[in-house]
Amino acid sequence: MINKYYTSMLSEKDIIFEIFQYSQEKAKIVGAENIYDFSLGNPSVPAPQSVNDTIIKNIRDLDALSLHGYSPGMGIPEARAAIAKSLNQKYGCHYQPENIFMAIGAAGALAHAFRAVNNPGDEVLTFAPCFSEYKPYTAGASLKLSIVPADVDSFQINFDAFEQMLTPAVTSVLINSPNNPSGIVYSTGTIRRLADILTAKSAEFGRPIYLISDEPYRDIVFTGTDSPYIANFYKNTLTCYSFSKSLSLPGERIGYLAVNPECEGAENIIAICPQISRTIGQNGPASLMQRTVTEVCGDTSDLSVYEENKKILYDALLSYGYSCVEPGGTFYMFPRSLEPDSYAFCEKAKEKNLMLVPGDIFGCPGHFRIAYCVPTERIKKALPVFKELAAEYLK
Ligand SMILES: Cc1ncc(COP(=O)(O)O)c(C=O)c1O
Repeated sequence: MINKYYTSMLSEKDIIFEIFQYSQEKAKIVGAENIYDFSLGNPSVPAPQSVNDTIIKNIRDLDALSLHGYSPGMGIPEARAAIAKSLNQKYGCHYQPENIFMAIGAAGALAHAFRAVNNPGDEVLTFAPCFSEYKPYTAGASLKLSIVPADVDSFQINFDAFEQMLTPAVTSVLINSPNNPSGIVYSTGTIRRLADILTAKSAEFGRPIYLISDEPYRDIVFTGTDSPYIANFYKNTLTCYSFSKSLSLPGERIGYLAVNPECEGAENIIAICPQISRTIGQNGPASLMQRTVTEVCGDTSDLSVYEENKKILYDALLSYGYSCVEPGGTFYMFPRSLEPDSYAFCEKAKEKNLMLVPGDIFGCPGHFRIAYCVPTERIKKALPVFKELAAEYLK
């Protein structure tokens, strides 16, 4: 019999994909130049030259087995060593290669982290607004996901609500900073307070509450933004990183899980990851990609366009009457919608060929997400449409 659970997922709408598909269809009618699609988080800048150069060099110089053979369960040793070294240099931490597990993007790192430090039926707490895929990610690991309501004035953590929800049923806390969809980066003050609460509650519960830190946007942080390296503040941290956004390689499926060396059970966590891979059929990223990031893990694409886009769009939206917490990074913005029903608002925008995503799917109604990872010229062309939309509400 065909699986009932996955079949039931078919009836859940994939709103982002639907909007994207609609915009593709509409483009055939009105022309792509008249569609303003801000629905998808696909990086708009190319990978740095060093990525392509390294791939070509490796294909030319390495033997077939090194290039295309199976990689060890935890990843290729050189890649794990290069990543540990790069993190230590950048953030003053003390990772050993043994603390790094190579994974298939942030999604793969999260799939392992969820299973490594939780057991079926455990509760994971996260914070609104949050990435919509956390729901299937945790459901697939038989975990209960609970979402702490947002502090909509800052999109930092709503600590009152968090402390109320941090019951003994909670085994781990999931954060995402810089954040999709708000673009907000948790400040040092926020991370310190979070760490203090987790430390106190771990002592009270007599076991560690693990912090799973989802960081695919860690390298997209704008000038002047306070951006602490989270694992330095709380020892029981599992950091999930991806090269999808920093190196513009989302289709190559490469990332890693880094376990703080001081984390309780650190050795076991990494030791069981290959066993988790066996159960979910996710046996390591491609050897070619692991060998590539071995050499370029300290590089990034030219990410400056995202900051430029943010400035143009943010300034313009405020001047048209929108309100929005200013993003400190990523390529997302999360303004308040101009009517309480953000679905209705996004439908209205769609009529003007402006593709926006309702905040409800991120656990935060009354807002909408703009993915501004598009060429700057597209942002400039879309401004009059945002203005016209605001004028309809703010007459
Ligand atoms: C917050 C967040 N976490 C995880 C992922 C998954 O990243 P990857 O494509 O590298 O697996 C994404 C992708 O957009 C994301 O936005």
